Amino acid sequence: MIHGQSAADSRFDRKLACSIAPALRMLYSDTGMATVSFFPDENCIVKTSSGNPIEPLIIEPEADLSSEFAAYIAAKDQKPEIVIVRGVGGFMITGSGKQDKYGRLIGKIAIVTGGAQGFGKGIAESMAAEGTLIAIADLNLEGALACAADLNRRYGEDTAVAIRVDVSDEQSVEHMIQETVLAFGGLDVLVSNAGILIAGSLSDLSKEKFDLVTNVNYSGYFLCAKHAAQPMKIQNKYAPGYLTDIIEVNSKSGLEGSNKNFAYAGSKFGGIGLTQSFALELVEFGIKVNAVCPGNFLDGPLWSDPEKGLFRQYLDSGKVAGAKSLDDVRRFYESKVPLGRGCTVADVVCAIMYIIEQKYETGQAVPVTGGQVMLR
Ligand SMILES: NC(=O)c1ccc[n+]([C@@H]2O[C@H](COP(=O)([O-])OP(=O)(O)OC[C@H]3O[C@@H](n4cnc5c(N)ncnc54)[C@H](O)[C@@H]3O)[C@@H](O)[C@H]2O)c1
Repeated sequence: MIHGQSAADSRFDRKLACSIAPALRMLYSDTGMATVSFFPDENCIVKTSSGNPIEPLIIEPEADLSSEFAAYIAAKDQKPEIVIVRGVGGFMITGSGKQDKYGRLIGKIAIVTGGAQGFGKGIAESMAAEGTLIAIADLNLEGALACAADLNRRYGEDTAVAIRVDVSDEQSVEHMIQETVLAFGGLDVLVSNAGILIAGSLSDLSKEKFDLVTNVNYSGYFLCAKHAAQPMKIQNKYAPGYLTDIIEVNSKSGLEGSNKNFAYAGSKFGGIGLTQSFALELVEFGIKVNAVCPGNFLDGPLWSDPEKGLFRQYLDSGKVAGAKSLDDVRRFYESKVPLGRGCTVADVVCAIMYIIEQKYETGQAVPVTGGQVMLR
């Protein structure tokens, strides 16, 4: 009933609705995490399973939410299930997360950018398996829709939504955050994963290509963090002490230089600077900001795509001296890793879980490189 309506109906005040939903969600946080779904029709009547209409809490947009909420509870001896904000729309609160599910991230709400394939897809799947409600946000809407449909099949309807986003476009990023908040009621984890790699030497790489990599990997992370922080701040205001996470999927190339791949490495080094700076700024709002720095995901599409993948490109360009096959190129890159293999989705998810569950760390770049890069 709810999902999709918000995207189609742009008559309501989206910003206002997005500031109310996370606040409402936190007013339920003492009994576990609720899901808050927005619907633009403030006149709709919702009935209980016995057929009786649910009596909503009806408030004006400028009303003090906490005191109106407390007054309703005092009068009815229960929390409201529907809150109508005049001129804005209705908010339906559906209990404390998914009661029938268990997991390490139960009731959390996350966005994974670049979630249609590769690391992002795997991270979204693993987080959904642990009970997270997921927005799969990608330039590739078709791919995001397929992933969301799969997660809804596996983990229950309304586990995932798909959103088209270009992380280098501020309006598009703002829309992504709003759609997520209107669908689920808030935001606990932003995984800023969307990224591109265009290699090239100083004499070859054009300014356009350099700018494209910078816009997606570096500015895109800035835009996602900027807009994700809004609902996170509201949640912390209504539930002081409540912690949320911004996590950048960085790279080992953010920790050491990468030959003839400076556009990518520069954007990732910059991402570490953003991570540390955002961490300092957002700590007062309970927002932890960290990065994970994976090594080469040799089984992922970036490397293994038979036509466009890096194994194919490096074989064709002769980058790996003496390599005669795709396997030779693969073995060369595996041999650079002390633990002898490429990075996997499971390795990255392990680091992300650590970051979310660790309450006493922010501003860090966690290497996941099989020992290829060691911190000083
Ligand atoms: N593959 C590796 O070896 C490796 C190693 C270390 C770090 N990383 C990092 O992991 C992240 C994911 O990499 P991957 O290998 O899974 O990549 P991938 O190319 O397999 O997937 C990237 C996804 O991002 C999406 N995307 C691209 N530009 C976008 C934009 N402007 N807005 C929204 N979505 C966009 C693509 O459509 C795609 O679905 C990247 O940040 C990358 O730098 C990758």
